[in-house]
Amino acid sequence: MAAIRLGDIAPNFTAQSSEGEIDFHKWLGNSWGILFSHPADYTPVCTTELGTVAKYTEEFNKRNVKVVALSVDGLESHLGWIKDINETQDTTVNFPIIADEDRKVSELYDMIHPNADSKLTVRSVFVIGDDKKVKLTITYPASTGRNFDELLRVIDSLQLTAYHKVATPANWNHGEDVVVSPAIPTDKAKEIFTKGVEEVKPYLRMTPQPNL
Ligand code: BEZ
Repeated sequence: MAAIRLGDIAPNFTAQSSEGEIDFHKWLGNSWGILFSHPADYTPVCTTELGTVAKYTEEFNKRNVKVVALSVDGLESHLGWIKDINETQDTTVNFPIIADEDRKVSELYDMIHPNADSKLTVRSVFVIGDDKKVKLTITYPASTGRNFDELLRVIDSLQLTAYHKVATPANWNHGEDVVVSPAIPTDKAKEIFTKGVEEVKPYLRMTPQPNL
């Protein structure tokens, strides 16, 4: 199986989920997407993660992002566990969880890392653009719960840089100054970015976030 790399079309699949059968590309439609795996249902870190994702629904909606989770547990397990997540995390899980018992999707997306665990998926994250291309991959081990604020931050950067000739510097957050793309000469940058361009070095030009 070839690794999934940035810029690849996210492989399509059909799968059973807690919200019925999903054809991944059809389900994405014109939205951005996050496909993320967790090791197992009825485990503590995963319970907090899926509860957190449910609580961030409004943030994902604002960014036109659909979210789908996955583990190799079955449908009955997912449906029972969702009740526990809702109860313990004081939320309502309102996104599908794929029941990948035959590991079809896990293998397609290389979510099982045998030297970490031979059977269970690691904590993979794939961010997919509205062009169905893979924009970001991150992998965490089972023992470390993900930071979903970081995921929102990255999506803000991905969506900004998809439509503007800028890049985002270290620790950037929405609303802060951004870097002018190296490919744009400074005189041209001053025409494009009417809020101003500060030339710190010929290769390091800063401008206010252009889409505010
Ligand atoms: C957890 O979600 O808590 C977990 C799952 C698998 C291994 C370790 C922790």
